[in-house]
Amino acid sequence: MPQSNYDEIADEYYDARHITSRNFDNATKAALNDGRANLPSGLVLELGAGKGRSIEFLGIAPERIIHLDSSEIMLNLKERENCLLKIHADACSIPLSGSQFGIVVGFLIDPFFGLDCLAEAHRMLTRDGSMILTVPTIAWGKPLRQRIGIDVMTTRFRIIDRGMTVQVPSNLHAPEKIIEMLEVCGFREVSLSNICLPQSVLDVSPDISSVCKEKGVSNYELPIVHVIRAVK
Ligand SMILES: C[S@@+](CC[C@H](N)C(=O)[O-])C[C@H]1O[C@@H](n2cnc3c(N)ncnc32)[C@H](O)[C@@H]1O
Repeated sequence: MPQSNYDEIADEYYDARHITSRNFDNATKAALNDGRANLPSGLVLELGAGKGRSIEFLGIAPERIIHLDSSEIMLNLKERENCLLKIHADACSIPLSGSQFGIVVGFLIDPFFGLDCLAEAHRMLTRDGSMILTVPTIAWGKPLRQRIGIDVMTTRFRIIDRGMTVQVPSNLHAPEKIIEMLEVCGFREVSLSNICLPQSVLDVSPDISSVCKEKGVSNYELPIVHVIRAVK
């Protein structure tokens, strides 16, 4: 069974005190709510599901949703979205036969974003099936990580209740590299949008506002999340 370094974070990941993650949620929700009507039918595979976000972000019926995550603790969080099935597995090596899903989604999948998971997502989809992914932007993450002295491909997560910090993988790529990766994996109709924090959000993470300040833009002008869409 896969082990995940998100096991350590899982208990606190959805805590309101983790403002950076909540700001990503704010941006994602604002960006995705418009697209609900255009979703294909069929089963939905949610990669790196955590507590599950397909109902909240996309209004998908729970009986269509399969949650996949490498953290057993994430998959067993008490407050989670309902789904048809939970799969404890690595998104880069999915223990399912292919062409079963009308939609593959993944929100904030930077811990495992790369060619392996994209190839697996492509294999999972039915012909003409759609994929919707989100990742934090390199425009936000790179200056922050350089300033605090961590590798650009990792993120730091403070576990507030235990007074400790963990570093976990977080793969950020330039938009053109992301598009190239999807095309190499066989996706078509690839699009990528830049999402900023909605103006209605007043509780802004210092990890976001400090980068905005460095760049001389307001808290609502820096793209913090990419929404990536593609078709098989
Ligand atoms: C940043 S969290 C996002 C959780 C959820 N998608 C959300 O937006 O609320 C990343 C999730 O990916 C999971 N994860 C990390 N590496 C993984 C892998 N190789 N395969 C599957 N899930 C993985 C973590 O356990 C965690 O639940």
